[in-house]
Amino acid sequence: MREVALTELSVDVVNLWMNRWLLLTAGTVADCNMMTVAWGSIGCMWSRPFAQIVVRPQRHTRKYIEQSDSFTLCAFPEKYRKDLQTLGTLSGRDGDKLAKTGLTLKASQRVAAPSYNEASFILECRKIYYQDMDPRGFVDKTIQDNYAAKDYHRIYFGEILSVYCE
Ligand SMILES: Cc1cc2nc3c(=O)[nH]c(=O)nc-3n(C[C@H](O)[C@H](O)[C@H](O)COP(=O)(O)O)c2cc1C
Repeated sequence: MREVALTELSVDVVNLWMNRWLLLTAGTVADCNMMTVAWGSIGCMWSRPFAQIVVRPQRHTRKYIEQSDSFTLCAFPEKYRKDLQTLGTLSGRDGDKLAKTGLTLKASQRVAAPSYNEASFILECRKIYYQDMDPRGFVDKTIQDNYAAKDYHRIYFGEILSVYCE
């Protein structure tokens, strides 16, 4: 892995989220939780590069994000797809789901939230903003179809502090 300057960050961003997925991790190497995410963005806000994620209230990972000031987003080679399915289906609330995968934690460089030895792309983020999704803002009313249980996401913005690529 090599560190990439923030000004040189260039990713196929829609494909990354929609098709490759990312693994969101918060906490510390000693005590963390992770979940697969496919909805989010990468951009510029408040003149800073950011990654934005959305997390439903029932996710165990949300407790870790709330208690932390950082999170990481990692992408993996295609051979780890099954592991992303596992981490996006099981809950850390019910046991050590990471042990059921081939992924192994490693310390990040600039944030407490860990990343993974197997990752091919890593964003280290400092939590800077959150907001609860307000359904009154659903101009397209079909968006509501994603929330039968009214479990609206909390939106988090993380300032990207470091980027690593293969
Ligand atoms: C491809 C994929 C994408 C997902 N994207 C999100 C997402 O963006 N936000 C979210 O809250 N849950 C998302 N999930 C669901 C969580 O990853 C899943 O509920 C996970 O088991 C939560 O784990 P936890 O309870 O240990 O946090 C996604 C699941 C998959 C398989």
